[in-house]
Amino acid sequence: MMDYPEHDFLISQRRIRQSPHIRSLARQVHVQVEKLIQPLFVVESLQQRESIPGLTDVYRDTSDSLIRQVESDLERGVKSFLLFGVPEAKSPHLAKTDFLARKIHSLKSRFGADIFLSVDVCLCSTTPHGHCGILNDSLDHVDNGSTVIALAEAARDYAQAGADCVAPSDMMDHRIQAIRDVLDHHKLDRTLIMSYSAKFHSAFYGPFRVAADSAPKGNLKLTDRATYQIDPAHPRDARVSSERDAVEGADILMVKPGLPYLDVLAELSKEIPLPWAVYEVSGEFASVELLAREGLMNRARGHVELWTGFMRAGASMIITYGARHARDWLKESE
Ligand code: PBG
Repeated sequence: MMDYPEHDFLISQRRIRQSPHIRSLARQVHVQVEKLIQPLFVVESLQQRESIPGLTDVYRDTSDSLIRQVESDLERGVKSFLLFGVPEAKSPHLAKTDFLARKIHSLKSRFGADIFLSVDVCLCSTTPHGHCGILNDSLDHVDNGSTVIALAEAARDYAQAGADCVAPSDMMDHRIQAIRDVLDHHKLDRTLIMSYSAKFHSAFYGPFRVAADSAPKGNLKLTDRATYQIDPAHPRDARVSSERDAVEGADILMVKPGLPYLDVLAELSKEIPLPWAVYEVSGEFASVELLAREGLMNRARGHVELWTGFMRAGASMIITYGARHARDWLKESE
């Protein structure tokens, strides 16, 4: 660092903070609604949309309310979405894709290139036990090989239905290669793959599992996802899977959750030159909502501060349940 005369250096710090204009000019990162991706949940055979505990203004949508929700999000400047489907019928052996494929088709027929539609690829909402894959015969392990085949078929179905991007969140080994191969085989070479490449075994997924009906359930030997998601104390494991996913053909990599793993995002986004997404997960979003509801935090500033941290750490895009409020919150926290 340069050797500034001490008093001069201190005074210049205050000059650069003295008005909204100069603060904005001096900023290194700018959060904009164009950088945000709004998750959506669509639930089969639901009569009326349902709210989700902890996630204000996020819903388990019906097929009709989903379309209206996207219309209203577009009016608020949101153009990118991450869609989760919850089918009624579940299967322990294969991915049930028809319901979600139909929803993708209707969204893309209605909104076309006005939206960028990413679709989550996982089995947790489609298996009766809630695990992200197919269990082995003794029901004590998620089988990698058969799960990867099912995931690749699901990705193909969603891409054929019109998804712009498929986003596998299961954490099986080598699913990116399998998905890229199947997409190429079906001439779906323009479909992007956003890999949840650094997804940790987190306690912050609670509200999501209610929304997606995907918590491990039933009388299982396998009660959590520790055997396939990354151990929070093992960041090198995230590097291995991110490097592998990049080599196997992912277009976008991801760190998830965001706040507890900013170090991972900062380090890996410097080293692997692909666009990085960060998923501000349901429990992170709900934390700010709960603090704000208790009068303990300014809601807009809380959310924008988290988003700013993600951008500073190297994210190109942020998946957040608050995208549809971003314009208001950004203005409020200026
Ligand atoms: C699993 C999946 C999870 C999320 C998205 N896809 C978590 C999990 O149940 O392990 C979490 C998102 C959130 O909490 O907002 N396929």
